[in-house]
Amino acid sequence: MVKHETYNFSVNDVSAVYAGPGGKLWELLMGEHIHVGGVEQTDVLARKVGLDNRKNLSILDICSALGGPARHLAEHYDANVVGLDITPEMIAEAKKRTEGKSYEKKIEYRLGSALDIPAHDASFDIIWGQDAWCYIRDKKRLIEECWRVLKPGGTLAFTDWIWGTKSVPKAESDYLMTFMVFPNMETFDGYTTLIETKGFRLTETVYLGKVFAVHVDQYVKKLQASKKAIVDGFGANAYTDAEKGLLAWQKAAHEDKVGLGLWIARKP
Ligand SMILES: C[S@@+](CC[C@H](N)C(=O)[O-])C[C@H]1O[C@@H](n2cnc3c(N)ncnc32)[C@H](O)[C@@H]1O
Repeated sequence: MVKHETYNFSVNDVSAVYAGPGGKLWELLMGEHIHVGGVEQTDVLARKVGLDNRKNLSILDICSALGGPARHLAEHYDANVVGLDITPEMIAEAKKRTEGKSYEKKIEYRLGSALDIPAHDASFDIIWGQDAWCYIRDKKRLIEECWRVLKPGGTLAFTDWIWGTKSVPKAESDYLMTFMVFPNMETFDGYTTLIETKGFRLTETVYLGKVFAVHVDQYVKKLQASKKAIVDGFGANAYTDAEKGLLAWQKAAHEDKVGLGLWIARKP
């Protein structure tokens, strides 16, 4: 099995991305659902966990960012959502965007770490995550925390950016990870093993490498079409760096060196 590097990015380094221009840039490219596939992918995951048939479930969205998924789940699936994020600016912005909405009382945003979740044991029906756990260094601890706060019979459902099936030269891996400020990424099998080892029963796993590549194409196009706005708002260097980084991710995605995975599992 290929051993992938871990990079020395701290929680503060990651948080600084989302507290500053990085968060705004990602929203510009991806929308306020900062994950591959946008709101449609949130609906896909919602249907896979049966939210279309069950009302008032409690959901913990780990790494909730601007709260796009949290608001969608509360509004369209009548879910009670806690959004957890480590970046105060993201929590503040998510709260602002939720204020005054008819479903406002169904959402609570909590500041805190995914590795030390501020929640009681067995307090959620569903643990939810979309394209963010790649920022979390200790995936084993993360899965243990998911287990702890999930009720017996509850569901773990998430997508994440992962290594693809092809090997990646070290210099390329260093650049891809440094551009994204990812401390590490899991492999598809790596997540599957972590989940099963903890005792979850997997009900579905999907490798979405091709879907990922198509979406990265769209982000590159959007970035290039927004060049003037980005240069005006964030400076010429920010644009040049973002384009170089995204082009590298686009190439890696089409070569199946990086991809996306989906996991649904039940806590017995
Ligand atoms: C890509 S965004 C998440 C997008 C969001 N899931 C969505 O679908 O809209 C990544 C988020 O993860 C948060 N984050 C990173 N590391 C974290 C940690 N250890 N604990 C909690 N949140 C973290 C960041 O602050 C940022 O808001």
